[in-house]
Amino acid sequence: MLSAEDNEILTRTGPGTLMGDLFRRFWIPVLLSCELPEPDCPPVRVRIMGEDLLAFRNSEGSVGVIEPRCSHRGADLFLGRVEDCGIRCAYHGWLFGTGGECLEAPTVSSNDTKGKFRERAAIRAYPVREAGDIVWAYMGPPERMPEFPMMEFTLVSAEHRFASKKLQEANWAQLCEGGLDTAHFSFLHMPVDVDSANIPTGAGGAGPQHMRWMKNDPKPRFSIKEHPAGLAMGGARHTDGEDTYWRIAQFLMPNHGFAPSTLVGRTYTGQTWVPIDDINTWVFCYSWNPEQPLQENEKGYVQGVPSIYSEVDENYVPIRNRRNGYMQDRTAQKYETFTGIVGVSEQDAAIQESQGRIADRTREQLGPTDLGVVSFRRLMIDAAKALSAGEEPPAAARPDAYCVRSGAIVTGPEKSFDEVLLTRFGTPNGEADRQYESQAAE
Ligand code: FES
Ligand SMILES: [Fe+2]
Repeated sequence: MLSAEDNEILTRTGPGTLMGDLFRRFWIPVLLSCELPEPDCPPVRVRIMGEDLLAFRNSEGSVGVIEPRCSHRGADLFLGRVEDCGIRCAYHGWLFGTGGECLEAPTVSSNDTKGKFRERAAIRAYPVREAGDIVWAYMGPPERMPEFPMMEFTLVSAEHRFASKKLQEANWAQLCEGGLDTAHFSFLHMPVDVDSANIPTGAGGAGPQHMRWMKNDPKPRFSIKEHPAGLAMGGARHTDGEDTYWRIAQFLMPNHGFAPSTLVGRTYTGQTWVPIDDINTWVFCYSWNPEQPLQENEKGYVQGVPSIYSEVDENYVPIRNRRNGYMQDRTAQKYETFTGIVGVSEQDAAIQESQGRIADRTREQLGPTDLGVVSFRRLMIDAAKALSAGEEPPAAARPDAYCVRSGAIVTGPEKSFDEVLLTRFGTPNGEADRQYESQAAE
């Protein structure tokens, strides 16, 4: 349970809010690289944390993320032409570069377009990076810009990764909580007959026996370990015998979560929840396999394969969404799946959006299986309050600590979480950065 005041702090990310300031100390995904498919292609409107922005790819292939208002007389640059290594306002032809600089002002005599004029005519632009097939921006104070986080999916080569996104119509924090709440698998994603032969294997390799263990043990024992970038979260369930089935998720500040089911050698998946505003969220979804190229059925939504990807339209809006009741089929609910909703990602979206556009956390009844969710809230609210008191978030200064993995393992009984992390990943917090050290040094 949270106080109303803390719920506000956790959920509001617009300019000038406590959580908004915290987010603006980190690199944030803005859109997919493929939304700007080639130099001088049409610009794309983006709204991030309540700020309306415009993304474009200039003649040389570099991406700009700028405020969309022309500094001459306020025309919308979305109407403009992307040309001559900038975006040219359609009204009187002022040209702006990816850094927001005014490169040309045809209505002003050329003698006057130097020096002070250039400074005055510049529009707001955020620093941009492209990594992992995603365009990222840093929207905070320039003097605080951190190094880019070493998330593993951005470090592997292109054929070893895939990225997409989906719209979810609710506040970012409850969606993030849904990703970290690994207890819900025992119900939300279950088939009615867990012993049937038709249970599909999930993206990370979890198959029928893992599903049965999850169904039979809806009270996983949680262990949380804080590390420099966030939290490793273990959930331990009984198996058929003496062994324990561990699923370990990762939360990385401020808004990344890695899924817990991946078995050794299989494909990892993660999601980053980017507030569009306080009641809508872009969920960036990505998969990576450091050991082998991804299979075709691991790249985005594939019917029948349980995964983080939703079936979406050309605007990345899920086909099964709140306006059509997620196409819930009550007959399927009776005989096939626990929800009657097709798709693991869609099941998550339905239940998370059902909590309200901004979940009311003042009226909850939390228990031991909510430990991960509670730890996430405490970490984020404390960090936002600390920043408002002048204390910078330490995670922003540790790009190396973002190179971690999540995943599952079956171990003998009675192991501590520290032992399990070492057994599954070979490192104390799931770190995988050793193999990328040479890349970071380049
Ligand atoms: S309003 Fe953009 S050039 Fe005049
Ligand atoms: Fe889920």
